[in-house]
Amino acid sequence: MKQKDELILAIETSCDETAAAIVKNGVEIVANVVASQIESHKRFGGVVPEIASRHHVEQMTLVLEEVMNEADVTWDELDAIAVTEGPGLVGALLIGVNTAKALAFAHGLPLVNVHHIAGHIYANRLVTEMKFPLIALVVSGGHTELIYMKEHGSYEVIGETRDDAAGEAYDKVARTLSLPYPGGPHIDKLAHVGKPSIDFPRAWLEPDSYDFSFSGLKSAVINTLHNAKQRGEKLAREDVAASFQASVIEVLVEKTARAAKKYKAKQVLVAGGVAANKGLRNALEQRFAELQKELVIPPLSLCTDNAAMIAAAASIEYKKGRRADLTLNGRPGLQFM
Ligand code: KG4
Ligand code: ZN
Repeated sequence: MKQKDELILAIETSCDETAAAIVKNGVEIVANVVASQIESHKRFGGVVPEIASRHHVEQMTLVLEEVMNEADVTWDELDAIAVTEGPGLVGALLIGVNTAKALAFAHGLPLVNVHHIAGHIYANRLVTEMKFPLIALVVSGGHTELIYMKEHGSYEVIGETRDDAAGEAYDKVARTLSLPYPGGPHIDKLAHVGKPSIDFPRAWLEPDSYDFSFSGLKSAVINTLHNAKQRGEKLAREDVAASFQASVIEVLVEKTARAAKKYKAKQVLVAGGVAANKGLRNALEQRFAELQKELVIPPLSLCTDNAAMIAAAASIEYKKGRRADLTLNGRPGLQFM
């Protein structure tokens, strides 16, 4: 007899996107709705936590209605409700967690708590089958991590940033160059027309370290711009962007390649908003083609925050029997379990 399809409804509100999605059997998107708040945060040059929370409250029911209509399923057809427990902004997380708890209680459905970064990694499962052991490079506005997975649901953080996340560095440098928020895509565009003529530092750290550091690079960019200004020289913005991007990419690609070799990875997954970067995508593709290792980068819409990735990660935990109860809380500093 054919097994019944598993349908999970997931909610994601860890930062500035209010998102809900329904995913079938952990791999197939049935409906995926994302309400972005970027326009509201733009004039402040970054995400304002209080504003993010208010938007989540306003958008949550609309997003849920839309996802249920789009999927054309009833509540009793669902198997579980999944939600991002953390890490993220506490006020923002709470809106998602409380919505998920209310829905689970009202409809008598199991509740599954999900780690936001696990979600980013599992965006790849919506694209292709995951092959283990694998290395995942997570690069977003809040995270820069190299994660080793020997099987589904098992995460070992082998490297992480010691200061700024890669996306954060992009956004700060963009602001110094008077580019709008979020700055990543603007720097990416400029970098393609500029020359990497300025020799910015690369933070390799200790010889075997898979950790990252971007704050020194960010300071070097700011100092270079200030010094040029004091001397009355004008640096071409596109050359600064190209030089900054070259430094970020070289370190990300090199450390990911080293980790993939050391851990004998069958697959390398990339996730998070910075995975949208064309320069990074090209450099990774070239490097892993040389190494003859399979590289997977999700489409742009699955790289940035969404709830389909949360449902995909939840499916694994749901099958293993993980259940949260109604004491579940948002955990801004949640570590991998
Ligand atoms: O994953 P994401 O949507 O949100 C977080 O969970 O943080 O990532 C957002 C980050 C921002 O810092 C943005 O500037 C960066 O991803 N980003 C990019 C590009 N597109 C988005 N950075 C570099 N190049 C891009 N093309
Ligand atoms: Zn994210």
